[in-house]
Amino acid sequence: MADYVRNTWYPLTWSRDLDNQISKHRVIEEDIVAYRDSKGQVVALEDMCPHRMAPLSIGTLQGDAIQCGYHGLQFDCTGKCVHIPGQDRIPASIRVKAYPIVENMGMVWIWMGEEDKADPSSVYDLSQYHDPNYSVLEGDGLPLRANYLNLADNLCDPSHVAFVHTTTLSAPGHGDVPVHHEVSGNRVTTWRWIMNSPLIPIFAGLKDYEGNVDRWHYYHYYAPCIAVIDFGSAPAGTGAELGDRSDCIQMWACHFITPVDEQTCIQHWLLVKNIPADADTDARLLAGLRIAFNEDKQVLEAIQANEDRHPDFRKVRLAIDASTLKMRRIVEQMTATESAARYRGRKAAPTEPEHTRCLKNTWLSSPAC
Ligand code: FES
Ligand SMILES: [Fe+2]
Repeated sequence: MADYVRNTWYPLTWSRDLDNQISKHRVIEEDIVAYRDSKGQVVALEDMCPHRMAPLSIGTLQGDAIQCGYHGLQFDCTGKCVHIPGQDRIPASIRVKAYPIVENMGMVWIWMGEEDKADPSSVYDLSQYHDPNYSVLEGDGLPLRANYLNLADNLCDPSHVAFVHTTTLSAPGHGDVPVHHEVSGNRVTTWRWIMNSPLIPIFAGLKDYEGNVDRWHYYHYYAPCIAVIDFGSAPAGTGAELGDRSDCIQMWACHFITPVDEQTCIQHWLLVKNIPADADTDARLLAGLRIAFNEDKQVLEAIQANEDRHPDFRKVRLAIDASTLKMRRIVEQMTATESAARYRGRKAAPTEPEHTRCLKNTWLSSPAC
């Protein structure tokens, strides 16, 4: 199993996609079963019955409890076993892991690490998402057969846009514009300005600009799994670069990445924009972004296939890779810090109770095990 940052909020799925039906998910190689309880709260539990390891996701809901589809053990929203068919005594140790959950920006976020560190207020938030002066366009959950850090590379990297997205987010001929970056804590920001250039195709018709624009791309990456790209345009020479965005098109493409396993991730994306919601405009933007993100998917999946075939290949490093290297170093440091803390905690932990070991390593030999 690969090493992942655990003490963070990962996107589980869209809020719109969870109801009172059982759904199955996988995040950092852990299987999770999720549903909404009768109060509408999201429940997320380890998807494995502690009896004979049947996935709970093949079971059924009994009120707010989930019932294993093999022998009918039931677990409540906290993961505690509340019913064993044919047995009155329910050992407290029979339970499944329950994951902390918070909902924000149309997403269900799951905490994969230590429960006492799960602070709902630390979940990612973009203030414009809640601001009535902006409109929100929810996109998709795009599955990629690619390691999530390869997608993260792509989302710290304005320099690929001129070559990959020529019909949507760029125009040919801007490959040489320099890229800058800055690191602040767990955030890497990579940006560039393209001055006095034609409007990008996806912005066509959004404003009645005449002539060229000055346009920007700020890629904000919050390790390990969030990328927010602030991109926009203003009439050329009107001072946008100096801060005057009074007549601009501005959008934030939010990418919330779910690492599934070493070779798979899901890119949940949505758009926040200063253009009012309008069915035709929104349909056009969605179509354009679907094209663009599928262009990235195609490249990233081909890269993953090459990496699988050539696991020892050493890639060359260029100046444009500076921010992606820093992003990866931050993720490595976060993972290493957590691993070291876990190791220290394990050394100090009291011996596991006999009863728990009995449940982990063998079947219950009797109801009193
Ligand atoms: S495997 Fe779940 S009750 Fe037996
Ligand atoms: Fe891209």
